Amino acid sequence: MPVTADTPALHRSVRGARGLHLSRAGVSLVLDLTMGRMPAVAYWGRALGTLTTAEVDLLCEAAVVAPNQNALDVPPRLGLLPQSADGWLGEPGIVGARTGGAGFAPRLGLTRADLTTDTEDAASGGPADHLALHLEDPDLRLGALLELDLLETGLVRLQGSLTNLAGAPFHLRSFTLALPVPAEAAEILDFAGRWTREREPQRLPVAVGQHLRENRRGRTGADSAYLMHVGTPGFTWDEGQVWALHTAFSGGHRHAVERTSAGETILAGGEGLWPGEVTLDEGETYSSPALYAAYGDGLDAIAERFHRHLRARPHHPSTRRPVTLNVWEAVYFDHDLDGLKDLADRAAALGVERYVLDDGWFGDRRDDYAGLGDWVVSEAAWPNGLGPLIEHVRGLGMEFGLWFEPEMVNEDSDVARAHPEWIAGPSPDRLPRESRHQQVLNLAIEEAYAHVRDQMVAVLEAHPIDYIKWDCNRDFIESGIRATGAPTVREQSLAAYRLADELRARFPGLEIEACASGGARVDLGVLERADRVWVSDCIDPHERQVMNRWTNQLIPLELMGSHVASGASHTTGRLHSLGYRAATALFGHLGIEWDLREATPGELEELAGWVALYKQVRELLFTGTRVRVSLGDPSLWGHGVVAADGSEALYSLTAMERSGAAQTGRMRFPGLLPEARYRLDIVNPGADPFGLVPSPVMAAARGEIAPTPANARERAAHGAAVSTGEESSPVLTGRAWELAGFTTPILSPDTSVLFHFTRVTGD
Ligand code: DGJ
Repeated sequence: MPVTADTPALHRSVRGARGLHLSRAGVSLVLDLTMGRMPAVAYWGRALGTLTTAEVDLLCEAAVVAPNQNALDVPPRLGLLPQSADGWLGEPGIVGARTGGAGFAPRLGLTRADLTTDTEDAASGGPADHLALHLEDPDLRLGALLELDLLETGLVRLQGSLTNLAGAPFHLRSFTLALPVPAEAAEILDFAGRWTREREPQRLPVAVGQHLRENRRGRTGADSAYLMHVGTPGFTWDEGQVWALHTAFSGGHRHAVERTSAGETILAGGEGLWPGEVTLDEGETYSSPALYAAYGDGLDAIAERFHRHLRARPHHPSTRRPVTLNVWEAVYFDHDLDGLKDLADRAAALGVERYVLDDGWFGDRRDDYAGLGDWVVSEAAWPNGLGPLIEHVRGLGMEFGLWFEPEMVNEDSDVARAHPEWIAGPSPDRLPRESRHQQVLNLAIEEAYAHVRDQMVAVLEAHPIDYIKWDCNRDFIESGIRATGAPTVREQSLAAYRLADELRARFPGLEIEACASGGARVDLGVLERADRVWVSDCIDPHERQVMNRWTNQLIPLELMGSHVASGASHTTGRLHSLGYRAATALFGHLGIEWDLREATPGELEELAGWVALYKQVRELLFTGTRVRVSLGDPSLWGHGVVAADGSEALYSLTAMERSGAAQTGRMRFPGLLPEARYRLDIVNPGADPFGLVPSPVMAAARGEIAPTPANARERAAHGAAVSTGEESSPVLTGRAWELAGFTTPILSPDTSVLFHFTRVTGD
C-alpha cells in the first residue's frame, strides 16, 4: 500500500516506505523518503490522482536526473535541504562550518519519518498532513529536523531546524530549503519597490544561475521579493502553471530561483543571516522561519490558496472590519485637542467606527527629530493627557487606536540619553547613520525590551485602547550589540515578535496594524500577530491600484489598510475625483486619511455614501473569492470578488489611462455561477463615473445594491433604501456575463465603475 493522506490512520511511521504521495486541494506532492538519504520532492504540481506504491516509487525514480558522462558516478539528488554531498552544485541548503572549516559539507540522511494527519491544523484550522523528517550526519555530528505540511488549501508549509551534536561550535551562515520545479517553469515574477511604490512586479526569464533576492534590511522591505513565482511563460491571472514561495519572516530573508547546468531548477527560501548571528554550541538548535509554497493554474489560484489559509486562522479578524479614520495626513505632528475632536465628530457623522491617533502624542515628539522611544504622553502637547480625546471618541461610538514605533529611538530622547548602549550599532564608539533621524533600539537587550514593554503597557492600561498601529520606519543597518559588535538583526526581529505576542496576550482583543514606512512589513510572520498591514504611505489611487493588486497576491482584502485621502495626493501631488479615490479604497479594509475640515458638504455627502456602500459589501469582500480579469485592452483593469455561494459579486472596472485608438472597452465577469441568472447594478455613489456617454447596458444598470442575506444586517442597521427589485436592471446568465460581457464607453482615465451582481435565479 502506498502511504497517502487518505489512509485513515492518524499517526504512523513511514520507516521503510520509499515513496510518499500526499494530495490535497488539487495539488500532489510525491516525496522520496529513502532512509539514509536527504528527502527529496520527486513531484510537486497538479494533483496526480490515486497512485499505487509501485507507481509512487516509479515517480521517485523518474525524478532522478540521469548522470552525465564525466560526472558524479551516482545520479545527483536534489533534496529539500540541497547538499553538495549529493551532487547538488547550486547553493547548498546549509552554509556553515566549525572554526577552521570542518563540517562544511554535511551529508545528512533520513533516520526516521513520521506522518500525522490532523483533522484540525493548529495554525490554519483545517485538516493537514504533517511529515516530520529526522536527519543525521553521524560523522560530522549534525542533526536536522524538516517538517513539511500539506495544508487543506493545497499550500505546502516547510520549516527546518539544525542541531549541533558535537562539542565544537558550528557557525551557520544560511539555511535554505528548496523545492524543485519543472523545466517548463521558465519565467519568474517577483517584486521590486521602494517607499511609496511597494511591491512593484518584475518579470524575467529563468536562466542557468541563481536569481537571488536577499533582503538585508532587517524588516520585510518595500522591495521584498515577498512572493517568488516561477511559471510557464506568459502566465496570467487565470492561465499557466505557477509555483510560488513565500518566506514568512519580517527580518532578513531570501528567495531564489536557481537553475543548474544539469537542468535542475529550484525555488528556495529562508532567513537571511549575518556572519556570527547563529553559532550553535553542543546541543543547540537553529530553527528556520516557515516557508509557504503554492502551486496553481494562474496567479489567482495562488492568491486564493493564501487567502483561504489566512482566513482559516483562529485569530483571523471578523468580517466587520471597522471603517477607520487615521489622522496622520490631516494633522501630522500638529496635535490640538479641539481640532482632533472636531475630526472625530465629522468622522462619526460619516459612519466611521475606529479613530486612530498617529505619531506625535508622546515625549518631545513635535517633529521627527526627537522623542522617539519615550512612550509617555507629552505634557506639552496633551496637558490633560489623552483621556479627553479618548472619552470623546468613544462617546461618539468609535473605537480608539494609537500609534507606536517600539523598535526605534531618536538620539534626542530621554531613553537614548539614559541608555546609549541600547541603541543598536556596530561598536561602542560608532553608531549607524541615521535614517529618518532615528536609530534602532536594541530590543534583544532584555532591559531595553522590558523598558519599552512597560511603557507601552502603562499607556494601554491607563486607557481603553482597542488598536495599535505598530510602525517601523528605518532599515536595520549595522544593527549590532554595541558592547560586543555582534549582529543583532535576527534577535531583534524575534524580540519584536515576542513583544507583540506579549501585548496581545496581556490585552485580549487588542488589534495590531503592521506598518513600516508604509508597506515595508507585509509577510505571514508578522500576520501571526497583526490584524492588518498598511499597504503604502502613497494613497494616490492610481498608484494604489497597482500596489493593492499585488499586495492582494499574498493577503486577502480585509488585511490591507486602504484609505480615502484628500483630493491632492500628499505623496504624488496628483488630483483625483472622490469617486476614484473611494472606489479604489473600497477593495480593502476601508479608512479615511483626509482633513475632513477641508471637505465640502457635497464631498462629505458622497463620502458617507461610500462608507455605507462599504458596510453593505464588506461581508462579501472579506469572505468571497478574488478574481482579476484579463481584458483585451491593457489600459482597463478589471477585478472583483464573488461570494463563496455565488449569490452575489462586486467587480471594478478601472481605466488606468485612456484606451488606445484601436481599443474598445469591454468588461467580462468571470467567477459567477454559469447557469444562474444575475441582475447587474452599477453602484458607485455620487456622480456617474462613466465618462461621456454610458453604453446602453450600463445606462440600464444604474441602480443600487440589491438586498442579499450578506448585506441585510447592514442595510437594516443603516436604514439603506430597499431596492424595489423592479426589473429594469439587466439580467443574464453567469456564463454570458463572463464570456460575452458588454462594451463600456471609453472611460476617462482614473475612473472606476463598480458592478454589483445579485443572483436572481438558479445555481
Ligand atoms: C510612517 C507611516 O507609514 C505613516 O502612516 C505614519 O504613521 C508615519 N510613519 C508616522 O511617523
